[in-house]
Amino acid sequence: MSLGIVILAAGRGTRFNSDNPKVLFELAGKPLLDYVLSAVADFDAKLYIVCGYKAELVKKSFEHKDITWVNQEELNGTGHAVMQVLPHLDSNIDRLLVLNGDGPLISKNTIKKLVTETEINSIGLVTALLKDPTGYGRIIHNHNRICAIIEESEASIEQKEIDEVNGGIYLFPLEPLRQWLDSLSSHNNQQEYFLTDVIYHAYHDGVDISAVHINSKEELLGVNSFYQLAELEKIIQSRQARKLQEQGVYIVDHTRFDLRGELYCGKDVKIDINNLFLGANKIGDGCEIGANCVLKNVEIGKNVKILPFCHLENTKISDDCVVGPFSRLRPGTELAKEVHIGNFVEIKKSKIDQRSKVGHLTYVGDSEIGKNVNVGAGTITCNYDGKNKNKTIIKDSAFIGSNVSLVAPVEIGEGATIGAGSVISKDAPKDKLTLERSQQVTVESWERKK
Ligand code: UD1
Ligand code: CA
Repeated sequence: MSLGIVILAAGRGTRFNSDNPKVLFELAGKPLLDYVLSAVADFDAKLYIVCGYKAELVKKSFEHKDITWVNQEELNGTGHAVMQVLPHLDSNIDRLLVLNGDGPLISKNTIKKLVTETEINSIGLVTALLKDPTGYGRIIHNHNRICAIIEESEASIEQKEIDEVNGGIYLFPLEPLRQWLDSLSSHNNQQEYFLTDVIYHAYHDGVDISAVHINSKEELLGVNSFYQLAELEKIIQSRQARKLQEQGVYIVDHTRFDLRGELYCGKDVKIDINNLFLGANKIGDGCEIGANCVLKNVEIGKNVKILPFCHLENTKISDDCVVGPFSRLRPGTELAKEVHIGNFVEIKKSKIDQRSKVGHLTYVGDSEIGKNVNVGAGTITCNYDGKNKNKTIIKDSAFIGSNVSLVAPVEIGEGATIGAGSVISKDAPKDKLTLERSQQVTVESWERKK
């Protein structure tokens, strides 16, 4: 007995009105198709994915996986999609698990149940009762036996009242499936070959059709529009937040928390409202993330305060730092312990050593700043000469006055002081005051016009 798995992912997703294939739209930062792949990952079975609309794009997104791709040249419906797979199937396969690529919330458990509970030679389906079954295929019974699935577009008014829906996950015995697919016709309002019509043919062949009936209202939700995508995003975000909350992370409001990737938190971490975490983030014990921040691939030590409205990307922040409000730390920023970065400060590809402060309205790029340095408001490292990026080095305990331009490459010596308003284009020696400033004059003869 050998199982083959087929995922249907050729559809365009008409209601998205988009040039991108539907299965690549993302939920919590991962493509829809990724979820279905994870749900079947435990099976030791050969995997076939039907692609069609923008097939190359879909294949490229999953290159690294062991998948046999099958092209569906014309999108003539889910039945037609499965027909395309038949010639490619390994000869030892005798049962096919078929899943829609646009049903990302299906759980491993439900699929396992479907595979273990469906008798050999019968068909298994996954169904649920939905409060609003609109758009789904309805399950039709005859004397308590499933005898057909009627699509929304074909359903009579009475059939539309049925609230038991088809989840788009099926287990078929392969040999008879070939014949049932042969008997499909596209004489319906959609002019498509519906995979769901197989049920009707199987019933008339006397085949048993059983259902794994799930109580979760969420698992079978499909994604056919941006509205449904957003609804599912909410569900996933709330699950992720809850998991973290149950592990002891103080997420102030789980409806205003977004994680698209991985988030590791130590003890006593507080995350205020409206934060977005992208990629892989790690936050140490005792940290606080203020409201309205975006963090992407950030590693934060212990007892760090990120004040509201910060944008941090590919950055390392050591213990006891304070960052923000309104700070932007760009890739390659590394802050040692007890560094303070204040408002409207942008830092790129720079290392800042212990206890240094960059408090206000400053740009630091391609720089190395030592310990106990104070960088005054409005300081700019002029790192770009129009062709190359050049380095600024500021040694320990230097004091940079306000509104200074440091024209790189340039080095400020240990303990040096730079007078406010200077344009520093030559190295400044240690322990001395260096300034570059024209003389201040007062014009004695001047009078203001009356
Ligand atoms: C389908 C089912 C419906 C079920 C619902 C569950 C059919 C006819 N109907 O409806 O009973 O309640 O899923 O979500 O199957 N696809 C292809 N090739 C095609 C058409 C579709 O690969 O030619 C793929 C799509 O990319 C998608 C999946 O099949 O991943 C389902 O297609 P979709 O058009 O979304 O079907 P629904 O109308 O949602
Ligand atoms: Ca669908």
